Amino acid sequence: MDALVRLAQDDMAAVDALIIERMQSDVPVIPALAEHLVSAGGKRLRPLLTVAAARACGGQGDILAAHKLAASVEFIHTATLLHDDIVDGSEMRRGKVAAHLIWGAASSVLVGDFLFARAFELMVETDSLRALGVLATASSVIAEGEVLQLTRSHDVNLDEETYLQIIRAKTAELFAAASETGALGVGVSPDHVAAMRNYGMALGIAFQLADDALDYGATSEALGKNAGDDFAEGKVTLPLLLAIERTGDTESAFWERTIHGGDRREGDFARALELMHGCGAITATLDRAYEYANQAKAALSILPDSPWRKALEDVADYAVSRGA
Ligand code: IPE
Ligand code: IPE
Ligand code: MG
Ligand code: MG
Repeated sequence: MDALVRLAQDDMAAVDALIIERMQSDVPVIPALAEHLVSAGGKRLRPLLTVAAARACGGQGDILAAHKLAASVEFIHTATLLHDDIVDGSEMRRGKVAAHLIWGAASSVLVGDFLFARAFELMVETDSLRALGVLATASSVIAEGEVLQLTRSHDVNLDEETYLQIIRAKTAELFAAASETGALGVGVSPDHVAAMRNYGMALGIAFQLADDALDYGATSEALGKNAGDDFAEGKVTLPLLLAIERTGDTESAFWERTIHGGDRREGDFARALELMHGCGAITATLDRAYEYANQAKAALSILPDSPWRKALEDVADYAVSRGA
């Protein structure tokens, strides 16, 4: 990840300038709330993918288009985080108090909508109808993923296939779109565009799998958001799903009470952790993440050898090793 951040330093300075410029508004609460989240940082992983895809594919097109698409991607991501923290009742984001706890849920929802809209204004400026199409589709797919997750969140019978469908939609689709639009922005060949999409999709799945494992292992300081939130919400992710599957014979009453019944008591999280580690659910989740990270790297094989391609390969390793 460090190599990519270094390589993309100038590009990302331009992208950040666009982000700051386009989040402005005369309506006071908008820039204040947006600033709170944007200045907290965040890894800027998705816009980095857009920039790196444009560079790695060696397109001859206008790099400003790629910068605008990268800023759009980060706006979409930021909007979904504002909405997601309300839906999930999360109290911390990017190491800061979540915006909805400062400005209220109503302002957070509306500023999220504003950022979404700004993302589309930026896309239109690039004149790339295809990139606009890819990011429009990604936006609706993310919303579908979030709704699907919401409707299945306390379901102890959630199956792996549906879990994968959820994470593909809510997370991987934007990684795929971020990578694909970088290639589209600079006008490269269809096979390179497809390679970048496949890379982003596999990377996004790996990233979310690792994120779901980290929720049961990392510290809140390392994550910049509260660890243990998934269990506290009764959200069924792969580590939990595997633990339920593997220990259900003896522990079904525990899972039924804590996840389906929503009755979580002191000591339950520690017990869940013990059961999860004991049955190898965390390791199995990370193994799955490694498989997708390898798929992501393999997708890059048709790209010309370059420092950018190498940096994208490293991002796949980073996605599954972060916080470790
Ligand atoms: C958070 O994404 C949402 C997930 C898909 C897990 P990031 O971990 O990339 O968040 P920031 O942008 O760095 O804060
Ligand atoms: C992240 O979902 C995906 C979106 C924001 C669309 P999560 O709810 O799993 O991510 P965190 O843990 O809040 O970052
Ligand atoms: Mg969340
Ligand atoms: Mg969520």
